[in-house]
Order: sequence, then structure tokens, then C-alpha cells
Amino acid sequence: MSELFGEHAERYADYAENSGPNAHYDRPAILRLAGGLAGKQVLELGSAGGGLTAQLAAAGAEVLGLDRGADLVQLARKRLGARARFETADLNEPLTMVPSASTDVAVASLVLHYLEDWGPLLAELHRCLKPGGTLVFSVHHPITGWLRSDRTDYHRVELISEDWDWNGKTVTGRMYRRPVSAVFTSLLEAGFAIDAVEEPQPTPGVEDPELDRILRTTPVFLYVRAVR
Ligand SMILES: C[S@@+](CC[C@H](N)C(=O)[O-])C[C@H]1O[C@@H](n2cnc3c(N)ncnc32)[C@H](O)[C@@H]1O
Repeated sequence: MSELFGEHAERYADYAENSGPNAHYDRPAILRLAGGLAGKQVLELGSAGGGLTAQLAAAGAEVLGLDRGADLVQLARKRLGARARFETADLNEPLTMVPSASTDVAVASLVLHYLEDWGPLLAELHRCLKPGGTLVFSVHHPITGWLRSDRTDYHRVELISEDWDWNGKTVTGRMYRRPVSAVFTSLLEAGFAIDAVEEPQPTPGVEDPELDRILRTTPVFLYVRAVR
């Protein structure tokens, strides 16, 4: 999956910067759930081209962004300069670059659905977060994932695919859909408490009226804040 983003790094970064789902739906919800960030140590998972990172840094956070796409990490470094740090990392592997109990807020915007097994990463985040620290994330909504699957077995975790239009280029993404209970059980098993669950509305300014309608009326992404 990350090869998809890596292969089209520049085009994806440009698309994500201003696209309706990212700019008017995902980032505002993530920033709101993350709360006051001035002086906070923020670990951003799946930082891509740094679109969300720029807003986290502008809110006063000291951000370390991790992404598997080396091209995206280069792009994010070029775009943000000294405003944030970025490292190439696979979230399926231990986060050896992050000291224990060093992170105030871990942010995972639209990345966890690329991981089949959340257990190892959630254990790592529990280690990296300070006591009372928060994990804020968004994932493709489980209802939409179910509708995109062949609907053989709701209770399994399975790969599904979806076509996206990135500024005129159609690309096919593959991601794991999981049942609602799997989202929350994995957090609870890793020692987190669930603090907020949201299915937000977009902020004003979505240019395409049809996209605006979809964002307002269908289950697009699911948002969770969990506390260590
Ligand atoms: C949808 S993008 C995130 C967009 C970003 N939150 C923003 O607002 O610009 C998903 C990112 O997750 C990264 N990714 C996917 N699987 C990963 C993995 N196993 N380890 C690290 N990064 C991964 C991809 O390379 C991609 O940059």
C-alpha cells in the first residue's frame, strides 16, 4: 500500500494538501480531537507529504513524522524544513527511534487501515506515550469498508480495494477493513481507555457539491481518541 503513495509521492502530496476529504474533513477533526498542542511532543504516523504535520507544527507541537514512503519523507523534509522532523519507518516494526514515555500525543490520520494487525503498533504506542497521553486517529469507516467488501464474513479482517481520483489520475488503493468491535477491542487490549468517538461533519469550503453531500451524509471516516 505505501508503495502506492511512494510511487506517486509528489502527486499524492499535492492532492492531499487541498482535497476535500483531507483539508475539510480529516485534518480539522484530527486537530480538534488532538486539543491544545503548544509545546507538546507529537508523534505523527503516516505523515505522507507533511500536510497535516504543517498544521500540527503551526499549533505549536514538536512533531516527529514517520512514514514508510522514503520519497514522501524526503518531500516532507523539503516542504517543512526545520518546522518538523521526519523519519522513514514501517509501522509494523518497533518504533526504536522513539524513547519510552516521551510522547504527549500520537496522531494517526488515515493510516491504520493499511495495517493488518494493530496489536504490535498499539503496544509500541503505549510504550512511547506518557501516562495520560493520547492517541488520536482516523480510519476509513467500518460501514463503508463492509459495503466495499464481498460481504462474505463481517467478522474477519480483510483486504478491500478502492479507486481514488488524485487530481485527475485514478489510482487503486488497498486497505484492511475490520469490524467495529475489532477497532475498539484492540485499543482496550493494548491498555488504552476510549475517550472520544466521532463521525464528524466537514468544515465549510468543499468545492465539489457532490463530495460535500457525501461527506455530510455518509459514513466516510471514523475518529477515535484513546488515552494511555
Ligand atoms: C492517506 S496517507 C496519510 C495522509 C496524511 N495523514 C495527511 O494528512 O497528509 C497514508 C500514509 O500512510 C503511509 N503508510 C502506509 N502504510 C504504512 C506503514 N506500514 N508504515 C508507515 N507508513 C505507512 C503511506 O505511505 C501514506 O503516506
